[in-house]
Amino acid sequence: MTAKLHQPTLLLLLLILVGVFLHRSHAQPNITGYNCTASQTGYPCRTYAFYRGALAPNYTDLASIGDLFGVSRLMIAEPSNISASAAALSAPLVADQPLLVPLTCGCNPTNGTNNISSANTNYTIRSGDTFYLLSIGAFENLTSYQSVEVVNPSLVPTNLSIGDDVVFPIFCKCPNTTQVAGGLNYLVSYVLQPSDNLSSVASRFGVSEQSIVDINGNSTKTTETLFVPVSKLPNLTQPNVSAAAPAAPPAAKEERTGLIVGLAIGVGLLGACLILGIGLLVHRERSREKRGPGGLEGDGGEKRQAYGDKGSREMEVNLLADVTDCLDKYRVFGIDELKEATEGFSPKCLIQGSVYKGCVDGEMFAIKKMKWNAYEELKILQKVNHGNLVRLEGFCIDPEDANCYLVYEFIPSGSLHSWLHEAGHRGRLDWKTRLRIAVDVANGLQYIHEHTRPRVVHKDIKSSNILLDSNMRAKIANFGLAKSGCNAITMHIVGTQGYIAPEYLSDGVVSTRMDVFSFGVVLLELVSGREATDEEGRVIWAAAVEAFGGRSSEEIGKAERLKGWMDEGLLADEACSTESVASAMSIAISCLNRDPSKRPSMVEIVYALCRSDDIFDFSEDASSNDAQVLAR
Ligand SMILES: *[C@@H]1O[C@H](CO)[C@@H](O)[C@H](O)[C@H]1NC(C)=O
Ligand SMILES: *[C@@H]1O[C@H](CO)[C@@H](O)[C@H](O)[C@H]1NC(C)=O
Ligand SMILES: *[C@@H]1O[C@H](CO)[C@@H](O)[C@H](O)[C@H]1NC(C)=O
Ligand SMILES: *[C@@H]1O[C@H](CO)[C@@H](O)[C@H](O)[C@H]1NC(C)=O
Ligand SMILES: *[C@@H]1O[C@H](CO)[C@@H](O)[C@H](O)[C@H]1NC(C)=O
Ligand SMILES: *[C@@H]1O[C@H](CO)[C@@H](O)[C@H](O)[C@H]1NC(C)=O
Ligand SMILES: *[C@@H]1O[C@H](CO)[C@@H](O)[C@H](O)[C@H]1NC(C)=O
Ligand SMILES: *[C@@H]1O[C@H](CO)[C@@H](O)[C@H](O)[C@H]1NC(C)=O
Ligand SMILES: *[C@@H]1O[C@H](CO)[C@@H](O)[C@H](O)[C@H]1NC(C)=O
Ligand SMILES: *[C@@H]1O[C@H](CO)[C@@H](O)[C@H](O)[C@H]1NC(C)=O
Ligand SMILES: *[C@@H]1O[C@H](CO)[C@@H](O)[C@H](O)[C@H]1NC(C)=O
Ligand SMILES: *[C@@H]1O[C@H](CO)[C@@H](O)[C@H](O)[C@H]1NC(C)=O
Repeated sequence: MTAKLHQPTLLLLLLILVGVFLHRSHAQPNITGYNCTASQTGYPCRTYAFYRGALAPNYTDLASIGDLFGVSRLMIAEPSNISASAAALSAPLVADQPLLVPLTCGCNPTNGTNNISSANTNYTIRSGDTFYLLSIGAFENLTSYQSVEVVNPSLVPTNLSIGDDVVFPIFCKCPNTTQVAGGLNYLVSYVLQPSDNLSSVASRFGVSEQSIVDINGNSTKTTETLFVPVSKLPNLTQPNVSAAAPAAPPAAKEERTGLIVGLAIGVGLLGACLILGIGLLVHRERSREKRGPGGLEGDGGEKRQAYGDKGSREMEVNLLADVTDCLDKYRVFGIDELKEATEGFSPKCLIQGSVYKGCVDGEMFAIKKMKWNAYEELKILQKVNHGNLVRLEGFCIDPEDANCYLVYEFIPSGSLHSWLHEAGHRGRLDWKTRLRIAVDVANGLQYIHEHTRPRVVHKDIKSSNILLDSNMRAKIANFGLAKSGCNAITMHIVGTQGYIAPEYLSDGVVSTRMDVFSFGVVLLELVSGREATDEEGRVIWAAAVEAFGGRSSEEIGKAERLKGWMDEGLLADEACSTESVASAMSIAISCLNRDPSKRPSMVEIVYALCRSDDIFDFSEDASSNDAQVLAR
């Protein structure tokens, strides 16, 4: 009886296994990318990828797609024939909405001897992501998982951790000089769909079928990348924004789910070693993939849609239309001027990250080198003007290598991080200075949270982004350090370990309250002189909340605990009252509340900090902002 039951099961199981393997080998083109050589002409170049909006559940608006490719919304909107109005830029996309995403295509090394022609984009692994699912999902087969493997040789594809940085090589090609001379300006990356044929692609791009065959050969298969040779970008027809219905989620892959369920039951019943062995392997791998980047299967995408994308988007900077109006407010530097100032961007002049120090006409500046996605940061900075924010002085665009440079006022004394944690400085800031720095930062944040329309969320508040001038007054730097240090506001989980608010880390929720959380960590650093994460990578905020928050908030032993936490340099500071430190600590703890809605606003923090020690006269800080605060 049981045997009879088992035989069909076994058969079914074998069929399923074969099905799974076939499914997989059919599903993926056998490619690791398109070879190129360093001597080839035309590299690097700007090119475009044809991307279908709202196919992957989490990529239903321009901002999330921009984040995926490390470009701004405007940069996608422009070539895609989407108007640059705030409404159009933040409107949800309809399923399969055609977009042209700009890429910088280069000839990039792999783990082997060959180089591949790709536009490398950074991605930070999130729960359930796999190379395979990301390649076919978020990246819509514009790359392949095999290629991701060869450009990330240090990562084990079956053992990815959340937070791993992965390079995704988007397939692209640059026309060589002969082709450009013949009027071929772009080779647009286009993934062939089952509904496409050569002539539909040709008419979509306004080119001849033969020209596509000339470049790609005549054997391109569905879901493989084609390079469409065009002299100028096609005119895309966009659906009417007002008529745009929320994107329908793509059809669930029930077929595969069925297979997995079948497989799991089969394995459970049978228990035959060989099958079990293979079965488990396959099952493990598939269920790993199935838990998926959220988006491919399951309903997680909608939840994020509900408050991650929409809510936060409104709170985030809404970058409005025309960028040209902001350009004439600033000094335009010449690339030669900047090269001379920084000795050709030599490492000697590097301050940190991609920020260089340079002297132009006898004046010192900080020069930040970016890709061509500086417009959004420009847009934010031109709106904000406050003594506690680093001032933008000018910019420079280098048409040759498509780089953009933002030129800031140079802040001489370096970062708060170096004053708190680097040998030579450590312990040298007195309490009054620390408190003043806290008030400065809080004022700067209060300004961007309350006095800009729409609100700006910094997203990367940390002691190394707080700079001190010659009077030890603090200024917030690095607006839009977001993703990879060069993109303005993103939906990617960016930020710095030890400072990131838990709700942002888990759900990607962006709000001003995440800056409040990070500010709480900075306040802890000011009190304790400890770094945000210790040598073992543990975050200090968790330890502080344990020591001073919740049930441990009772008074007994609190003074002792506080002494244990205080920076040694402060214990010797006579002008440092324990009450003042205790008050700062309790403000910090309230900022670190896990529930964002229970954290104080920056307005309340400024007020509380100013009161936290009456012996200090903060009247000069009591700018118009504070006056408004107190009037409320
Ligand atoms: C990508 O390829 C996979 C496997 O061939 C396919 O299921 C998926 O629909 C493709 N996605 C796109 C956007 O082409
Ligand atoms: C991949 O392609 C190469 C040549 O194009 C071929 O020799 C090889 O057998 C293919 N591998 C698989 C797994 O299909
Ligand atoms: C690959 O690129 C590196 C630099 O990126 C270059 O040194 C090397 O020669 C290239 N290899 C080939 C085969 O083109
Ligand atoms: C490069 O990576 C691929 C996939 O991980 C692997 O199959 C190949 O052996 C690697 N090649 C070298 C030269 O390490
Ligand atoms: C690309 O280069 C690698 C290594 O040189 C080689 O194994 C592979 O066959 C090449 N692929 C193509 C399509 O030329
Ligand atoms: C997987 O990665 C983690 C952390 O990166 C490492 O500790 C662990 O040993 C790895 N496991 C395997 C099987 O490689
Ligand atoms: C440019 O590419 C075309 C087609 O691939 C080729 O025939 C031509 O020789 C190339 N020219 C140069 C200068 O590399
Ligand atoms: C593809 O092109 C080759 C020559 O380039 C030709 O021999 C072959 O018949 C073509 N195949 C099809 C299906 O057109
Ligand atoms: C796009 O539209 C412009 C005018 O709006 C026209 O001149 C151009 O030929 C069109 N291009 C294509 C590829 O259809
Ligand atoms: C842009 O899209 C609209 C429809 O949304 C279309 O009427 C117009 O011709 C397009 N513009 C170009 C230059 O193709
Ligand atoms: C998509 O959204 C879901 C739900 O918020 C999330 O769990 C998942 O990690 C997201 N996937 C990606 C690739 O961002
Ligand atoms: C990706 O990350 C690497 C290393 O962190 C960085 O050098 C590179 O500039 C980043 N690329 C982009 C497009 O942001």
